[in-house]
Amino acid sequence: MSEIRDIGLWESGKRKIDWVRRNMCLLRSVEEQFREERPFDGLKVALSIHLEAKTAYLCKVLAAGGAEMFITGSNPLSTQDDVAAALVHDGLNVYAWHGATAEEYHRHISAVVSAGPNIIIDDGGDLVNMIHNEYPELIPNVIGGCEETTTGIIRLIAMNKAGQLKFPMVLVNNARCKYLFDNRYGTGQSVWDGINRTTNLIVAGKNVVVAGYGWCGKGVAMRAKGMGASVIITEIDPIKAMEAVMDGFKVMKMEEAAKIGDLFITVTGCRDVITEKSFMNMKDGAILCNAGHFDCEVDVAGLKKLAVESKPARANIDGYKLPNGNNLFVIGEGRLVNLAAGDGHPAEIMDMSFAIQALSAAYLVKNKDSLDDMIIAVPEEIDSDVANRKLKFWGLEIDSLTREQEKYLNSWQID
Ligand SMILES: NC(=O)c1ccc[n+]([C@@H]2O[C@H](COP(=O)([O-])OP(=O)(O)OC[C@H]3O[C@@H](n4cnc5c(N)ncnc54)[C@H](O)[C@@H]3O)[C@@H](O)[C@H]2O)c1
Repeated sequence: MSEIRDIGLWESGKRKIDWVRRNMCLLRSVEEQFREERPFDGLKVALSIHLEAKTAYLCKVLAAGGAEMFITGSNPLSTQDDVAAALVHDGLNVYAWHGATAEEYHRHISAVVSAGPNIIIDDGGDLVNMIHNEYPELIPNVIGGCEETTTGIIRLIAMNKAGQLKFPMVLVNNARCKYLFDNRYGTGQSVWDGINRTTNLIVAGKNVVVAGYGWCGKGVAMRAKGMGASVIITEIDPIKAMEAVMDGFKVMKMEEAAKIGDLFITVTGCRDVITEKSFMNMKDGAILCNAGHFDCEVDVAGLKKLAVESKPARANIDGYKLPNGNNLFVIGEGRLVNLAAGDGHPAEIMDMSFAIQALSAAYLVKNKDSLDDMIIAVPEEIDSDVANRKLKFWGLEIDSLTREQEKYLNSWQID
């Protein structure tokens, strides 16, 4: 029994899924492979990822491999009701709707976890957390899982250090075919898509402040520069700060950046990156948004308390009037701007990330009796397989090492 907004929306959802399928060549090849190999026959897969068309296609690929799917979103604002309807129309189990309250969101995750999954596909750690904390009796059913994002991985590593992680998890985010493309080019493009379509304002000439110069921040800053913004980076890591300087950006503390920024984007995976102290220093009309996994980077709750007046300024943008008379604007309630105010990463990017998810899930099943560690890196064969499939699709060939070159690269003695 699914729990979605309206099954009648399925046709629009199907069109969206058909569109991304056309542009996800890797997943199409994995789908073909899975139809033949049926790696998930008899297994239940629980999945919690932003529920839009690309995720829906991943769900269909896993189902083509024999999985009984139990699906929820990973953020109430990123769920698309028509896409959810299309999946239910195809016989998959979905528990999600756009704009779910905290209580509904929790109920939806519970529904997926209580199905008793054998494989978990997580984005940010919500499923893994819930099964450990609320359904420990279901842990023995779990073969393992895959984690999509940086923030989820930080949580998993902390859990494992504390001896609390009870089944193996593959760190999908840390595969090169994931973070080098999804975090950098995917976030770089989709964050701007979300901001631009929501604000309809010019980027050129603006002071854009990017908090965090990790893989995502690099992409967001690079594209801001390309659109003619003057980019300011805030960091806590001195090496990343140096990288930003040498990439041609200004680096300063948030306290200082707050005074001159026109548009602020947090993408740190940390909390309280922009708080009251900064709000009060900002220019009238400054716009704030977040691209990090959780909505705790811009302290929207603090801003609401501070504001003397708040009202919607435009679809998906809220305005807050401060006691000093200045107005600040927040896009998508401070949740992931590319998903809360856009359609997420381009299909070709999620194609790579989701091919790794699908192949890693099949790897877990195949190797379930020999998995010793709780924290598992994506095997190099999967990373290279995904890259090779992509190059082949692009019609590109690359060189390979001769035997002499291989020997040279692996030797320590000079001939
Ligand atoms: N929006 C998306 O679609 C999307 C995609 C991938 C990842 N993410 C999320 O984005 C966040 C960042 O991911 P990443 O892969 O770039 O991580 P990363 O670890 O590569 O980079 C994070 C950077 O933020 C810096 N940082 C931490 N705390 C800070 C603070 N208080 N102020 C300034 N800088 C700070 C770190 O030093 C680091 O350089 C995570 O929450 C991740 O889950 C979002």
